[in-house]
Amino acid sequence: MSGVNEIRSTFLNFFGENGHEIVSSSPLVPRNDPTLMFTNAGMVQFKNVFTGVEKRPYKRATTSQKCVRAGGKHNDLDNVGYTARHLTFFEMLGNFSFGDYFKERAIELAWNLITREFGLKKDKLLVTVYHNDDDAAGFWKKIAGFSDDRIIRIATSDNFWAMGDTGPCGPCSEIFIDRGEHVWGGPPGSPEEDGDRFLEFWNLVFMQFEQVTPTERVDLPRPSIDTGMGLERMAAILQGVESVFETDMFRQLIEATASALGHGPSQDNIASYRVIADHLRASSFLISDGVLPSNEGRGYVLRRIMRRAMRHAQLLSAKDPLMHRLVWALVREMGQAYPELVRAESLIEETLRLEETRFRKTLERGLSILDEKSSSLKKGDMFDGDTAFTLYDTYGFPLDLTQDALRNRGIGVDVASFTDAMERQRAKARAAWAGSGDTATENVWFPLREKLGATEFLGYETETTEGAVAALVQDGKEVASLKPGESGAVVLNQTPFYAESGGQVGDTGMMSGEGVKFRVTDTQKKAGDLFVHLGTVEQGTLKPGTALLLEVDHARRASIRAHHSATHLLHEALRQVLGDHIAQRGSLVAPDRLRFDFVHPKPITPGELARVEDIANSVVLENDEVTTRLMAVDDARDAGARALFGEKYGDEVRVVSMGKTAREHGANALGWSVELCGGTHVRRTGDIGLISVTSESAVASGVRRIEALTGNHARKHANDTMALARTAATELRSTLDEMPARIAALMEERKKLERDLSDARKRLAMGGGASSGGAAGTGVREVANVKLLARAVEGVETKDLKSLVDDGKKQIGSGVVAIVGITEDGKAGIVVGVTSDLTGKFNAVELVRKASEALGGKGGGGRPDMAQAGGPDGAKADAALAAIEKAVAGAGR
Ligand code: ALA
Repeated sequence: MSGVNEIRSTFLNFFGENGHEIVSSSPLVPRNDPTLMFTNAGMVQFKNVFTGVEKRPYKRATTSQKCVRAGGKHNDLDNVGYTARHLTFFEMLGNFSFGDYFKERAIELAWNLITREFGLKKDKLLVTVYHNDDDAAGFWKKIAGFSDDRIIRIATSDNFWAMGDTGPCGPCSEIFIDRGEHVWGGPPGSPEEDGDRFLEFWNLVFMQFEQVTPTERVDLPRPSIDTGMGLERMAAILQGVESVFETDMFRQLIEATASALGHGPSQDNIASYRVIADHLRASSFLISDGVLPSNEGRGYVLRRIMRRAMRHAQLLSAKDPLMHRLVWALVREMGQAYPELVRAESLIEETLRLEETRFRKTLERGLSILDEKSSSLKKGDMFDGDTAFTLYDTYGFPLDLTQDALRNRGIGVDVASFTDAMERQRAKARAAWAGSGDTATENVWFPLREKLGATEFLGYETETTEGAVAALVQDGKEVASLKPGESGAVVLNQTPFYAESGGQVGDTGMMSGEGVKFRVTDTQKKAGDLFVHLGTVEQGTLKPGTALLLEVDHARRASIRAHHSATHLLHEALRQVLGDHIAQRGSLVAPDRLRFDFVHPKPITPGELARVEDIANSVVLENDEVTTRLMAVDDARDAGARALFGEKYGDEVRVVSMGKTAREHGANALGWSVELCGGTHVRRTGDIGLISVTSESAVASGVRRIEALTGNHARKHANDTMALARTAATELRSTLDEMPARIAALMEERKKLERDLSDARKRLAMGGGASSGGAAGTGVREVANVKLLARAVEGVETKDLKSLVDDGKKQIGSGVVAIVGITEDGKAGIVVGVTSDLTGKFNAVELVRKASEALGGKGGGGRPDMAQAGGPDGAKADAALAAIEKAVAGAGR
C-alpha cells in the first residue's frame, strides 16, 4: 500500500467510508478568490462554504488537491532541491467538515487513519497545538494516549493557520513523525526545529474565524474542520526514505531525466535532478490549468519555475532542451489521477520546448557574465544589483535564478539596487510616453498600467471568477468611488472579461459584491494590456479594494465564441474554393453575426459561396477539438498558421487550430484551419452548430465581404426565410415545390398581358385620339395633293409610336404620317414617317425637327423615311402637327 497512487486512494476511501463526499481537485488558478495567486491548500475551493456564502449538498468532503506554493503567501520556491521536504507543486490530502464534526472527531479520524490504515507507530509520533487550545490538547491525550511532553504548545502563527491575509482561519494542530536520531533536527519549538528529523506531515485546522480584512476577524457561522496532509511526505514516511525525492514517483522522474541526459545523479548534482523533477511537475500542472509563460503575474511565476529548472538542466550539461522530453514520464505517473495532464500533454511539451529553446539562446552568455562578475566574491558577499538587472533585462534571468545560482557559494544579491535599476528603466519608459501626445482623457491609462501592471486575463479558461477593484476611472480621471447610477470604468487585478481586439467585441456581464452591483456594458484594452470594464453602478458604492464576483454574460460569450471559430473555418474554406490569394483584411466577431473582409478581385458566384458554406459546415460536423497553443512566430508560420498581413506580433503567439489535418496542409500542419489568434473559441467545432452565409458584397476595389451567422442565429435566419417562402407560396396559391414554376408562369402571363395591353392601347389610340390635327374621322386628309395622316394620341409610349406610324403608312399607301404621343407625365414624343415613293420630296428628319421645335424640344433624328423627336410639353401637340402640315403644304406645292 505504499506507492503514491495507493496512498492517495487509501486516504480518499477512508474518508469516503466515513461519510465524506470525494470531491475532485479544483484548478491551480483559484476561481473563487480575488487575490490568491495559486491554490495553495485543499480548503481553497471550499472557502465560501466555510463562511456560509456558498451551499453544497454535503457537509463533509475529502480531496486530493493540486497545490502550488510559489510566488504567494506560502512560497517554497527557494528551498526546493535543497531540503528533504520542500516542493513547489504537491498534493494535499484533506478532509473537511462544514459545520458538522469538530475537534474531537477530527482528531479521532486522523488518529485512526495514521495508526490503523497507515500503520504508524505511536511512539514515533508527536503533535503540536496552539498554546491556549486546551481542548485540542485534552482530545489528543484521550484519543492517542499521549503524555504531555508529546503535545507541544506553540504560541506562534505556526499553529494558527490562515489561507492568506483574508479568509477562513483558526488554531491548528500539526502531527509530526520522528525520523530517528540519525537525522539532524529537533522537535517543533526547539532551536533545531528546521532540521529534517521531526517531519510535519498533517495539519488539522480548527476553522473558527474569518479574517475579513487584515485587521478585522469574525466568527465563522459554525466551527469547521480543514486538514492537509502532504501526500509526498506521507509517501516518504511509508516508504522509509528520508526525502520526498526518494519516493517512488520522484525516483521515476529522476530516472527519466537520467536516461534523457545519458548519465545519472551523483552526490554533487542530485539537487539539480530534484529541482528539475519538482519544477517539471509544477510547470506541467500549471500549463494544464491554463497558465502560460509571460512576463507578469502567474505567467511570470511559471516562467521563473521553468527557467530555474532549465538552468539546472544546463548545469547537468544537457545538450538539447530537456524538460519537454520528460513529460511522458510525468503523465505515466500522474495521468490517471489527473486526466487534465493527459489532455494537455502536447500543449505542455510544446510550451516547455519553446521556452527552453528560447532561453538557451541567452542562458550561456548570461551565466558567463554571472561567473565573471562574481569571480572575486566570497562567502557572505553581495552580488551587484545592476548586473543582476542586466541579467534580468537582457538575458531573461529572473532574480531568483540569479540568487539560486549564487546560493551554493553563500553569496547574496543586492536586491535594493536591483529594484532601483528596475525603477530607473520604468522612469525612462514613462518619459518616452509623456511625449507621445495622447488625448487628455486617454492620459490616465498609461500611469495606471505602470502602477498596476497588466490585467491578468482568465477568460480563456473560465467566464466566472473573483477579482479585486484596482482602480476606478470617470471622465478620464482616477476617482475614489463610483456611486449608484454613476457610469465609469473599472480596472481589476484579474478578469474573465475579454477586451475588444482582433475583431472580437468586448464582453458584457455583471460584477457583484456585498451590496454592490456594476453592470459591464463593454470591455476595452488600454495602454496595451490594461483591461477596462465600462458600465454603470446599479447598486451600492464601488471602491478600490472591493472584492467582486465577475460574471461574463455566458450566453452572449458562447455565441461570440461560435462566431469567432466560424470565421476561421470560413477563412480556410474561402481559400480552398477561391485560391491562396485570399488574405484577411478585417473582421467583426459579434454575438449575433460575423463579417469577414478579404482580398479577391471579383464577386463570388452563388455556386462558390455554396461550396464555401458546405466545406465550413462539414468541419463543424466533424466536431473535432479546437486547440490553442503558444508558439514562436516562426514555428507558427511553419505550421501553416495564417496571420494578419502587416500585423506586429510578439515573439510568442497564440495559435488556434481546428479540424482534421489534410495531407495537402504539409507535414507540420496542426489542423485544418491554423491561425494566430488571441480570441476566444468553442471547445469543439460542433459547438458552432451551423454556419449560414447571408451576404456577399464589395467593400473596396479588390476587397470582398461576406457576412454569416452561426448556431441559433443561423437557424432562426433559415426559419424566417422559410416562413417568408411559405407566405409567398400561400399568396401564390401554390406549394413551395411548385412555386418557381408558378412564378415563371405568372411572369410569362404578365408579359403576354403587357403585350395585349399595349396592342389594345394602340388600337384604341388609332380608333379615336385626343386630337386629329383639326381634321375629322381617321385624321387622313390631302394637303397639296399629298395624303397626310396627323394625330395626337394619349397614353402611348414613344417606343410604341413607330409601329403606329408603320401601320399608318400601310393604311394610306402613299403620303406622310405624323403621330404625337403624349405620355402620362405630360411630355411628348413624335414620330414622322414618309412612304418610300415620296422620300425624294419629303425628308422625315426635317419634318420631325419642325415638330420638335413646336414642342419645345431640341431637334430629332432618324432616316428620311422614319424619324423621331421629343419635347417637354405635350400640351403643344396640336402646334407640332400644324407645323408639319405647314411644311408638307409648302413642299408639296
Ligand atoms: N489548510 C491547512 C494547510 O494548508 C490544512 O496546512
